[in-house]
Amino acid sequence: MIDWQALIEAALDARKRAYAPYSNYPVGAALLGEEGTVFAGANVENRIFGLTVCAERAALVAAVSAGVTRFDALVVATDSAPPAAPCGQCRDSLAEFAIDLPILLINTEGKQDSRNLADLLPHPFRLGGKLPGED
Ligand code: THU
Repeated sequence: MIDWQALIEAALDARKRAYAPYSNYPVGAALLGEEGTVFAGANVENRIFGLTVCAERAALVAAVSAGVTRFDALVVATDSAPPAAPCGQCRDSLAEFAIDLPILLINTEGKQDSRNLADLLPHPFRLGGKLPGED
């Protein structure tokens, strides 16, 4: 069973650690590894705007760097209404590991929107074969 409340708190907490002086748009993400570890990420901007790292990819890189490559859930926290969905780059980054990932989008007012990565990224690029982990 997924402890969504723990993930929500982790994503909101991570959002507070965002480095977003250029957009003033902090984002927090909490990615649940198959073995139960929660990997948090926040967006990290750069004065060279193209170097910005999104919260979802920050969480993913933390997880994979720790040796975790299978995931059960992701929560993304913003203050957008409706709650914002991951950008295309993040969708494809996540699809490398978990095309069926359940994703909960939340905002700071408590609104929630439940999605699945496969729905957010239909017809993903497959490099002529299957996605890693796809049967
Ligand atoms: N951002 C994320 O962290 N995740 C997304 O999926 C989309 C956008 C960040 C990047 C930038 O720091 C700010 O939000 C505005 O685009």
